[in-house]
Amino acid sequence: MKIIGTGSALPKKVVTNDMLTEFFDTSDEWIRTRTGIETRRILTDESLLDLAISASQRALDAAGLKAEELDYIICSNVNNNYVYPSMSCMVQGAIGATCPCFDIRIACAGFVYAMDIAESFLQTGRAHKILVLAAEEPTRFCHWKQRETSVLFGDGAGAAVVTEGGEYLGARMTTISNTEVLFQRNRLEPTPFEVEGVYVDHPMVMQGREVFRMAVSSCSKEISYLLEETGHKVSDVKYFLLHQANMRIIKGIEQYLGGTDEQYPTTVQKYGNTSSASIAILLDEQVRANAIDRGDLIVMSGFGSGFTTGSLLMKY
Ligand code: COA
Repeated sequence: MKIIGTGSALPKKVVTNDMLTEFFDTSDEWIRTRTGIETRRILTDESLLDLAISASQRALDAAGLKAEELDYIICSNVNNNYVYPSMSCMVQGAIGATCPCFDIRIACAGFVYAMDIAESFLQTGRAHKILVLAAEEPTRFCHWKQRETSVLFGDGAGAAVVTEGGEYLGARMTTISNTEVLFQRNRLEPTPFEVEGVYVDHPMVMQGREVFRMAVSSCSKEISYLLEETGHKVSDVKYFLLHQANMRIIKGIEQYLGGTDEQYPTTVQKYGNTSSASIAILLDEQVRANAIDRGDLIVMSGFGSGFTTGSLLMKY
């Protein structure tokens, strides 16, 4: 796999920590010290689809490709206003692509899983040019009476166009079924046959400390195994593009693996946790800042509800 173009898009509304004190008993100081988040972007008059289309178009422009040339679109998305069709179907029509597409729902690790699926399609020759997209509006999953979760998230979309000809050195995807630490239950239409109490909707439940512990531990170990399996050292890697959930989680992983602060770029302070879009947005920012050169080794690693972890090592 070779990344030939990246793009991202964020809502225009910047929401500061101080602005959140209007809705919750919280403070800028609490949010900064516990999470590192200073601002996040939240959708107002745009839709998530608008962001997904912009990010995709930017990635295609950067790749110098027309949408008709795409062989597949894979989109990571947990939730949006449409139950169906999938986000990728809506993006396909809007950008003028004609290829097959599908969505995956693996929460915050979704972009890394989508990249790994794209790699398999390239390996088998099923596709040659793939748009890998992540578009998420986690601020719409939050129960806006819960300060524990609502302060953490932001909305956004990021995309990469990939093709053959690069070096995808390895990947590790893990799933440990744990449905208690981080979940949300949807409201479904009741049927006359439903037995009361079987289907209950529930706003987001997050056992923050446990998620924190699992994130640091699984991401650190998986990246270590990946480097070991492929015969690489931390110092060989230019950037660890980690899921941007919490600055303290990123620092925890850095402490375990070692290396310098420069190897762990962050956007969480500006955008909060944008779920699976966070790694795609971070990648795009690094590419657009000319911070990554061809041949640089990059690790992408995400974790989230499931509990799922996905890590990959590739040459940019
Ligand atoms: N503002 C002010 N106080 C808050 C608060 C907020 N937004 N949210 C929680 N608190 C309070 C709690 O009620 C608790 O009060 P108490 O001591 O009186 O009971 C106190 O702050 C400490 O809460 P605690 O949960 O111990 O804090 P923490 O240091 O674990 O930080 C998280 C909380 C959520 C920031 C942290 O656990 C975390 O980031 N977890 C991972 C979350 C994540 O990344 N989720 C997505 C994964 S993809």
